[in-house]
Amino acid sequence: MKRGTSLFIILAVAIAGISLSQRTIDASGAPVTFTKDVAPIFFSKCAECHRPGEGAPFSVLTYKDVRPWARSIRAQVAGKEMPPWHADPHYGEWANDRRLSQSEIDLIVNWVKDGAREGNPSDMPVAPTFTNGWSIGKPDIVIPMPETFTLEAEGPDEYQYFEVDPGFKEDVYVQMAEARPGNRKVVHHIIAFVRPPSENKAPRPKMSKEELQKLREKMERESPRYREGFLMRTKKDAPVVDDGCAAVNGGKINRNDEGDVGTLLCGYAPGMNQAVWKPGTVKRVPAGSKIVFQMHYSKVAGSVQQDRSSIGLTLAKSQPEKLVRTHGISNGYFLIPPGADNHKVTACWTAKEPIHIINFMPHMHLRGKAVEYKAFYPDGTTEILMNIPEYDFSWQTVYYYKEPKAIPKGTRIMVTGYFDNSAKNRYNPDPTQTVRYGEPTYDEMMIGWMDYTVDTESIKTITAKRD
Ligand code: HEC
Repeated sequence: MKRGTSLFIILAVAIAGISLSQRTIDASGAPVTFTKDVAPIFFSKCAECHRPGEGAPFSVLTYKDVRPWARSIRAQVAGKEMPPWHADPHYGEWANDRRLSQSEIDLIVNWVKDGAREGNPSDMPVAPTFTNGWSIGKPDIVIPMPETFTLEAEGPDEYQYFEVDPGFKEDVYVQMAEARPGNRKVVHHIIAFVRPPSENKAPRPKMSKEELQKLREKMERESPRYREGFLMRTKKDAPVVDDGCAAVNGGKINRNDEGDVGTLLCGYAPGMNQAVWKPGTVKRVPAGSKIVFQMHYSKVAGSVQQDRSSIGLTLAKSQPEKLVRTHGISNGYFLIPPGADNHKVTACWTAKEPIHIINFMPHMHLRGKAVEYKAFYPDGTTEILMNIPEYDFSWQTVYYYKEPKAIPKGTRIMVTGYFDNSAKNRYNPDPTQTVRYGEPTYDEMMIGWMDYTVDTESIKTITAKRD
């Protein structure tokens, strides 16, 4: 959205909020209408998802598109199902907080009750503009998957990996990044990782086919993980660590088991917002890096589908100062018993330097019930940083701090997830299963992602060290 437009919307919403709360007529006695009162709210709070080409079922950009949905809008808005937002307002202040104010909710509800009138077309605010569907505007660089992928009509979900060499001769500093699915019917999620050149040069021992096969089998036998088709799963009899914080190495039995594929650059999942960092704070893609697409596909029964997804990058326009680092505080060894309705799993991470946290993105699957990030400060005090009392797998929201959160060196951050593997959980694919960590959505995950900057680090010192 252009800055002028958003400022206009903010002003319009503020004015509407003051003059119209609880009423179906405005201050001058005129009835509440779409063009004058409702559209500004929809443009600022709904259009991000409710516009042509996005995941939501209808567009809010015109009255004609909105009108047939009026009853549903009233129910969803009054019930606070829409806009989707799951962070407990008692903890943290979030820049992308999508919630409507009570006066906005009342206004929308009353507008529908009153017949969902259009009003004077000349009152209509300027619609937000989007560039070919990109939410970050026209990206400087678009990197598509190297090929179109064809997905068969039947069978379980698939994880597919595609590697692309974007040909970066120098380090690239990324200000905004967005992943866009090519085919929304089948793309469940995209995660784009950066694989720096240092990781590309792993020496490959010369081996015969037989030797290689033997080595693979040995690794599989000894690993707590195994591959099932295109999916990585944890063996049912792998060691169990529910309380990752009490365990050595944060519950990671062997770091390499976590399937590290490099630094996370950006992702797509329903409800996930694009990655936008403040000027001066950037993600770095080192020269010579490869971009790895991790694609999670869900099939459309009876129909062969194709996909070629892309990522778009907008580069820093000024000299960047701070590097964004991404870390997933995760536990890969929990075990959720069949029927358990509030199974607790923890994971911990300690800040070795003073840092500023930019955002959080908790990730669990269908049995995810609630999740919390809590800080244990070196002075003995504690603070809940973020609480999601009702986790919903449908919404992979990234929660951006209004102001980056200062975390002193030595602070331990604990992520606690609760899982509902009972029949009460209507999303539960099978309450009779013992559930472990794995890629398919019928397995579980427990990852507390976060972006942060290190206070003592500047891009100048990093570059100097390396050169
Ligand atoms: C982050 C993205 C996002 C935002 C923001 C958002 N929506 Fe939605 N909305 C969706 C998606 C996706 C669905 C479809 C959900 C589903 O199929 O389960 C949906 C569904 C709905 C539905 C239900 C349609 C039906 O099937 O009856 C209504 C009504 C709705 N949204 C209204 C709104 C309104 C009004 C706003 C703003 C005040 C809003 N939404 C903001 C993504 C969003």
